[in-house]
Amino acid sequence: MFSLELKASPTSYDEYGQPCYPVDQEKGLSEAQGNRLLKEAFASGYTAAVAKTLVGITRRQVLLASSQRPADVLEIGGGNGGFYDGLRNKARTYINVEPGRIPLSGKALERIKDPRYMCLKCSAEDIPLPDESVDVILCIASFDHIPDYRKALGEVRRLLRKGGIFMLTLNNRRSWWKAMLSRTAYLKRREEEIAKEHYFQWSFSECESHLAEFIPVRDIYTTTFVPFIPHLWRPLLPVSDLFGRPLLRKYGANIIAVCRKPGKDGSHEFVPRAI
Ligand SMILES: C[S@@+](CC[C@H](N)C(=O)[O-])C[C@H]1O[C@@H](n2cnc3c(N)ncnc32)[C@H](O)[C@@H]1O
Repeated sequence: MFSLELKASPTSYDEYGQPCYPVDQEKGLSEAQGNRLLKEAFASGYTAAVAKTLVGITRRQVLLASSQRPADVLEIGGGNGGFYDGLRNKARTYINVEPGRIPLSGKALERIKDPRYMCLKCSAEDIPLPDESVDVILCIASFDHIPDYRKALGEVRRLLRKGGIFMLTLNNRRSWWKAMLSRTAYLKRREEEIAKEHYFQWSFSECESHLAEFIPVRDIYTTTFVPFIPHLWRPLLPVSDLFGRPLLRKYGANIIAVCRKPGKDGSHEFVPRAI
């Protein structure tokens, strides 16, 4: 663990020595994610397959951002910190803002001993770090678990250095497959389960406009991973993004947005571009 300037002292430390801050939320935390859909998606390997694709996209974005010097990276809702493994070569420091109580073992336990990695047990709505202290903020499939997205976006804007980037991935409320299944009992059941753990769902256009209130959106698109439908996703996953992305710009299953905080006098330290 590296030493860090914290704006407020932790109220406690957890059993792994990670600094903890008060968090007040009823759903959305990792320990509340016990739903059937997620369990099935994990068990079948779907989650791992999608995560592999996202690590690739995220890694390229961090590489672009860190072309001049290794970046100080912050991840929001990074779970046990697994994304750090794919990015560690380009990160000078890596802070995982993760309020969920996640049991650590094996690699995850090793990770918290890495001198460049730290997990802060706090909500993304109130992060005890100084203004303009990181170059890259990542939020992979976590943003809709945060109760007040406006507070979280305010923190993103405050914490990024000038020219720094914020990369977000989110489920698309208006994806092609939801349109196809609209009014079916299957989708209704799925939406009910999703609502138990998420505070909101956005369409492509909603995502673009909510982000733009806080930070300029440089690039936004959707990836058309085949959604998790048992027996269907596995053969279709490798081809769906290839053909789907140009055809369904706004209607793929996952939204990917890259935002950049404007640099001083119009110049930018980092220059992200579409991947
Ligand atoms: C679906 S998981 C995604 C985990 C990881 N990013 C991944 O892609 O595997 C959502 C994560 O967001 C975290 N989370 C929930 N509320 C949060 C909050 N207020 N601030 C930051 N993270 C939060 C949860 O604890 C959980 O680990």
